[in-house]
Amino acid sequence: MEYESLIIDALLEAGAKPVSGEELAGRLGISRTAVWKHIRALQREGYHIEVLRGRGYALKGLSSRPLEREVRRGLSTRRFGKRVIYYERVGSTNDVARELARQGAEEGTVVIAGEQTRGRGRLDRSWESPEGGVFLSLIVRPHIPPAAISRLSLLAGLAAAKAAESFSGVPIGLKWPNDLMVDDRKVGGVLCEMEGEAERVDFAIVGIGIDANCDVSVDIPTTSLKKEAGAAVDITGLIREVLRVFENLYEGFLRGAADFLEDYKERSQTLGKDVKILQPKREIAGKAVDIDGEGALVLRLRDGSYERVLSGDCIHLR
Ligand code: BTN
Repeated sequence: MEYESLIIDALLEAGAKPVSGEELAGRLGISRTAVWKHIRALQREGYHIEVLRGRGYALKGLSSRPLEREVRRGLSTRRFGKRVIYYERVGSTNDVARELARQGAEEGTVVIAGEQTRGRGRLDRSWESPEGGVFLSLIVRPHIPPAAISRLSLLAGLAAAKAAESFSGVPIGLKWPNDLMVDDRKVGGVLCEMEGEAERVDFAIVGIGIDANCDVSVDIPTTSLKKEAGAAVDITGLIREVLRVFENLYEGFLRGAADFLEDYKERSQTLGKDVKILQPKREIAGKAVDIDGEGALVLRLRDGSYERVLSGDCIHLR
């Protein structure tokens, strides 16, 4: 294990009590100067470590950044998060994850960023990604045909909504296909991308963005968990919860269980509403009456006929 993690473990074990540089050096088999360098590196990573002259180092607070070692501490999943790659700042975690997946990275690999400079949303939109948000991309390799990807992306939306709700106490609804909503304000979204052949998916990148502690200014109503809950959210803990909830749902999904759809529908803000779906070349208006096994939104049109929609921008009318 890397020295910095061993130092944090030793400081955590000591509680608030200081641990001397000498003791750390002895335990790690390195010099006291080397210990000092690692302490400085940890401070730069956001750990609050007090240096007490003649007595050593005391840990006053963990880093609030979703660093690999913090996300993995106490993570109870089996495969999601076995490998975590953290960037303070990156273009898009989905792009990084796609490259890693192309190079063979295993299922469950997670890419996380403190902020994104080229965050991407659905429908070729950009995704504002300032510090304080959750930006994560997960690599999955399900043995499913490409047509099943829409369902996987609904599943990811459900997982993110459940995790954000239980973690922050803020009730989260879903606007089809997978916008995380607090009433009519958007608080997060999912961008699911895949590569594969006609018959089977090679890998999918599930990108999840949640406005946890950050404000964004886009031309739709938005909010943050912090604003709604009245207190800042522990981003690292929230990420762990997303991975835990998502893994459970995903395992059911691989076994072919379809019960998540009922769970999804219960959270749906879209069902029962009059909606307008904007697609690149057409607009469809109707009443949203169901979401089917493929993840399509079923609309009852004015003439009484039904139409399934698999993609597009969904606007709630009333
Ligand atoms: C949406 O349009 O609602 C989906 C937004 C998805 C944003 C996330 S943030 C992490 C990952 N990286 C990206 O560039 N996009 C997704």
